[in-house]
Amino acid sequence: MDDPILSRRDALKIGVLGTAALALPLTVSLDAARASELPESRVPRPFTRHDVFVRPPVLAPVGTDPADRPEDVRDVYHVRMRQFTAQLVPGYATTMWGYEGAFPGPTFRIQRNRKVRVRFLNDLPLRHPVFGYEPTTSVHLHGAPSAPQYDGYASDTSRPGQHKNYLYDNSQAARTLWYHDHAVHHTAENVAMGLAGQYQVLDAAEDLIGLPQGEFDLPLTVTDVAFTARGQLLHDDRGDSGPMGDVLLVNGVPYPAFPVQPRKYRLRLLNASIARGYRFQLQPTAPLTVVGTDAGLVHDPVDTADLRMAMGERYDVVVDFAPFRGRRVELRNLGVENSIDYDHTHRVMAFDVLDVDPDPAGNGPVPRPLPVQPHPLMALQAGHADRTRRLRFQRGGSEWTINDETWADVERSEFRRVVADPDLGDVELWELENSSGGWFHPVHLHLVDFRVLTRNGRPPTPYEAAGPKDVVYLAENETIRIITRFGPRTGRYMLHCHNNSHEDHDMMAQFEVGEDGPSPFSAPPQGVPKALRPA
Ligand code: C2O
Ligand code: CU
Ligand code: CU
Repeated sequence: MDDPILSRRDALKIGVLGTAALALPLTVSLDAARASELPESRVPRPFTRHDVFVRPPVLAPVGTDPADRPEDVRDVYHVRMRQFTAQLVPGYATTMWGYEGAFPGPTFRIQRNRKVRVRFLNDLPLRHPVFGYEPTTSVHLHGAPSAPQYDGYASDTSRPGQHKNYLYDNSQAARTLWYHDHAVHHTAENVAMGLAGQYQVLDAAEDLIGLPQGEFDLPLTVTDVAFTARGQLLHDDRGDSGPMGDVLLVNGVPYPAFPVQPRKYRLRLLNASIARGYRFQLQPTAPLTVVGTDAGLVHDPVDTADLRMAMGERYDVVVDFAPFRGRRVELRNLGVENSIDYDHTHRVMAFDVLDVDPDPAGNGPVPRPLPVQPHPLMALQAGHADRTRRLRFQRGGSEWTINDETWADVERSEFRRVVADPDLGDVELWELENSSGGWFHPVHLHLVDFRVLTRNGRPPTPYEAAGPKDVVYLAENETIRIITRFGPRTGRYMLHCHNNSHEDHDMMAQFEVGEDGPSPFSAPPQGVPKALRPA
């Protein structure tokens, strides 16, 4: 990769050519040295700054909303979205947007069934620093079956100066979720500016299982960025294909190195990139033990040498560093088809294993099976489906489409148009089709988790068959069959590609469960938009 086949300028041309260029077989010529325009010597390099791994702070409630019944009490959280500067490159101040002025945003850690109300205030500036649009926002809690009006419906936006209260019941199985922006047509830019963070639903029963806890339970939010010559975030979505950064961040830090004990850790992996898929592997090779999927702990943990993750996917893995006392273990990225490999995007972070005696307490084997019930969705078979639907994910004209339609069609229908209308409790089998070799689509359904039945008629990978998912990596030239039971709520919910650039232009649709669900717009945002305030 020392001789770039394609210069950055060429890559930009592909971006500018847009649709025409997309017809080219992108796979052949996408190796390049770098995307950033910074002087080569300034671009962050793997593991050059030590001990900079950052664990985002845990958010504390500001109070409680009392209720007649104790189980209805809600803890109240206040989150302000604002512009801030990050020190990603020594000597440069990079403008970003973040929840509570940080990227990633603070971590929510919430006990299961504890209800919360989160007031998200859009305190962003009136214009995006590069694109100039007014930064409207909508907050989605990805992995939660929220009521429609609290689900971050893309067109239910708040303007700068406005806030909106979101109610979350946290009744789903304990799991790793994330919250991120979902504003119509600007999700990619808003998330790329930093509007994303982890949200963990915890369960007291889980604490007794013997999985690593506390300081040994690490959130790892992985993203990729590129920098302009002035050290600002470079936004090049390559003609709606999605940006590919040449610098990887873990929890907002470029290629961190982190000292660890020679023992087991739980890593909550989240791919929060806009368009980059990863295939993670440890070097030296060691098993990644998958104990959780998008939908929480699995019954049978799965050991895997490598783990492919599309945007939006989460996996909880246990890694044992005990065999590596005094050595460095790297988290590597083997890369995936149709992502651009730059000189350093095959390295992610380093774990420097301390040369000390391991603490035998709390370092027992991962129980097999885990003492959790197999998830009922995993018992669903094709024969249980009330009906089957087929959804084609395609490039059509200058847009990304689902069954030849886009979110613009939903808008034109005054938000009535749906691609599916199951009744509450219906079981449906969906065939997701990507007949292109030029790109993949992480397909995400709101509200439900689902079981992945087959990929091109073959079983899915063992780790994605270990438990339900809410995003599935629909790879090049694949048809995937998924099955789910629609619920636990009625209403209209989005489904979309989680390449945020595809989603914005305009690969998003909706389904409606039942007929009497609440409107996804029913809670109007509060506050006077900044733009309308007297100066
Ligand atoms: Cu993570 Cu609809 O999104
Ligand atoms: Cu979601
Ligand atoms: Cu896509």
